[in-house]
Amino acid sequence: MILVTGATGNIGSALLEELHLAGAAPVRGLTRDAAHASFPEGIEAVEGDLTRADSLKAALAGARSLFLLSGMGAEAEILAAARRAGVEHVVLVSSITVETHPHLPAAGENLAVEWLLKDSGMAWTILRPTQFASNTLWWAREIRERGVVRAPYPDIGLPAIHPADIAAVARVALTEPGHQGRTYVLTGPERVTVRDQLAASGAVLGRAVPFVEIGRQEAHRQMASLMGDEAADAVLDLMGGDVNDALLAVHDTVFRVTGAVARSFRQWASDNGAAFR
Ligand SMILES: NC(=O)c1ccc[n+]([C@@H]2O[C@H](COP(=O)([O-])OP(=O)(O)OC[C@H]3O[C@@H](n4cnc5c(N)ncnc54)[C@H](OP(=O)(O)O)[C@@H]3O)[C@@H](O)[C@H]2O)c1
Repeated sequence: MILVTGATGNIGSALLEELHLAGAAPVRGLTRDAAHASFPEGIEAVEGDLTRADSLKAALAGARSLFLLSGMGAEAEILAAARRAGVEHVVLVSSITVETHPHLPAAGENLAVEWLLKDSGMAWTILRPTQFASNTLWWAREIRERGVVRAPYPDIGLPAIHPADIAAVARVALTEPGHQGRTYVLTGPERVTVRDQLAASGAVLGRAVPFVEIGRQEAHRQMASLMGDEAADAVLDLMGGDVNDALLAVHDTVFRVTGAVARSFRQWASDNGAAFR
């Protein structure tokens, strides 16, 4: 039994699809609200809350593999409960910032979860993805409601990754031998700037998306009201305020693990055009 956490999210929903198509069975998807989950045929929806490890008993019962998102809850307790339930292998989604920006608080927290997993007695595979192409969904509401996107750092190109490629790597790590004890840095196939992303989104919409460049201060004001000061600063650093060679580098890990070239941002925009209409 494979238990997939975050099963209704960007990576998790693609991972359920991957596992379904690969005929991997049985698979269970975790959600806080099974009534709203729509999973591929044959995949069981199970309720549980990652902030309360005691709520995961039914989800973990019989599970031998676990796909876990870092930073969602009480990881020390979750890993202990998984071990007790008989889980043998955990595929963890951490973040590239563990190595590119270790000074940021969220990176430190992800690194701590990686070490908890390595010390857990279970086999592990760690995925360290870069910025997700799906972060662009933040703009979807601006495009729908105001028809214009306002963002800072429009000319910094980062190798954003399609979450389906993280799922593809996770599926291979969960179902094929040779991936235990490995840490994979995952990026998209090329760097894309904000302007490139808007052009790709506009091509899907069939019209140009108007864009206004804003400064860090204004962006910080908007973001801090949603996520707090510290997180807004960290996100702005990663978007362009404090990028470094390690964050800019393109890796071919997706191809090496899955045999398929990583999907482009254009592909992601085409797969998700409906969100912008
Ligand atoms: N965005 C980036 O650029 C980036 C970069 C590197 C790493 N990451 C990492 O990627 C992960 C996010 O992946 P994603 O984009 O696929 O996620 P997502 O689309 O944001 O979805 C989050 C999922 O987690 C579930 N969830 C949230 N709180 C929960 C809780 N308390 N208990 C149980 N389930 C809960 C939600 O399911 P329900 O609502 O159905 O319960 C949802 O399916 C995080 O670990 C993040 O640190 C993100």
